[in-house]
Amino acid sequence: MKKRSIFVILATLAVGMMFVVSGALATDVPDTIKMESKVYPKHKKTIVDFSHKKHAADYGIACADCHHVYTDGKNVYKEGDAVAKCETCHPDPAKPKKPKDGELTQEQKMGSHYWVIHENCKGCHKSGKKGPTKCTECHLKPAE
Ligand code: HEC
Ligand code: HEC
Ligand code: HEC
Ligand code: HEC
Repeated sequence: MKKRSIFVILATLAVGMMFVVSGALATDVPDTIKMESKVYPKHKKTIVDFSHKKHAADYGIACADCHHVYTDGKNVYKEGDAVAKCETCHPDPAKPKKPKDGELTQEQKMGSHYWVIHENCKGCHKSGKKGPTKCTECHLKPAE
């Protein structure tokens, strides 16, 4: 009897701990994120529901592949750190335009939320040959 009740107490504690741990994870890594940045005065395309947790867990992508905090040119972001919205550092809603005689400058790219978001999302899908690259695969057509 004694052994049994100790087991029950331990099991209850273990389950309790699991709730604490999964509760913390759930707040750290949201399942899905509605990509609806307020830098855009109006969304011309449908809102993308980004499967955040799937990307991190099922597709095995490291947090630091998408999240960064640069110190002396090095990404020092680590799991558990606070995450600022992309728009905090990449605030311009406009799609940058190439100058007539050349390529986009680094400033144009880095200023643009539109550019960095497509570079990150679509860029990885293209290079890994996995994940959607067509507009309407992310910006799903509204149901009719
Ligand atoms: C891999 C997914 C993905 C693909 C493919 C993609 N987009 Fe996006 N797009 C996004 C995300 C995410 C945002 C950011 C929306 C936000 O945070 O508000 C965005 C933002 C935008 C915006 C600015 C917000 C708005 O609705 O006006 C436009 C315009 C846009 N995309 C057009 C396109 C076009 C055109 C294509 C195809 C050439 C395309 N996108 C392909 C994911 C994608
Ligand atoms: C494939 C890209 C990608 C991966 C991998 C990824 N994230 Fe994110 N994460 C995002 C994007 C995009 C956002 C939304 C940013 C925004 O709203 O501007 C976000 C938002 C967040 C937020 C803020 C959530 C909120 O509700 O404000 C946290 C915290 C976070 N991520 C933590 C993590 C952690 C921890 C990992 C690794 C276990 C991770 N992310 C992996 C792309 C990613
Ligand atoms: C705290 C500021 C900050 C935040 C928040 C931030 N970035 Fe950046 N980002 C930078 C800096 C700084 C660079 C490097 C600029 C350079 O090399 O000139 C950069 C570079 C990039 C690049 C270029 C390629 C690379 O990875 O170096 C992409 C793409 C990018 N960011 C996407 C994102 C996305 C997507 C988010 C949100 C999930 C985000 N950034 C959040 C500051 C930030
Ligand atoms: C570092 C690589 C990488 C980055 C960055 C990335 N993805 Fe993906 N994405 C993948 C992979 C891998 C898959 C899975 C493809 C498969 O297995 O079919 C995927 C699948 C998807 C899918 C279809 C399946 C699902 O889970 O919904 C969507 C939509 C998607 N990504 C949107 C986005 C958006 C939006 C962003 C940027 C906020 C993004 N991805 C950033 C690698 C990436």
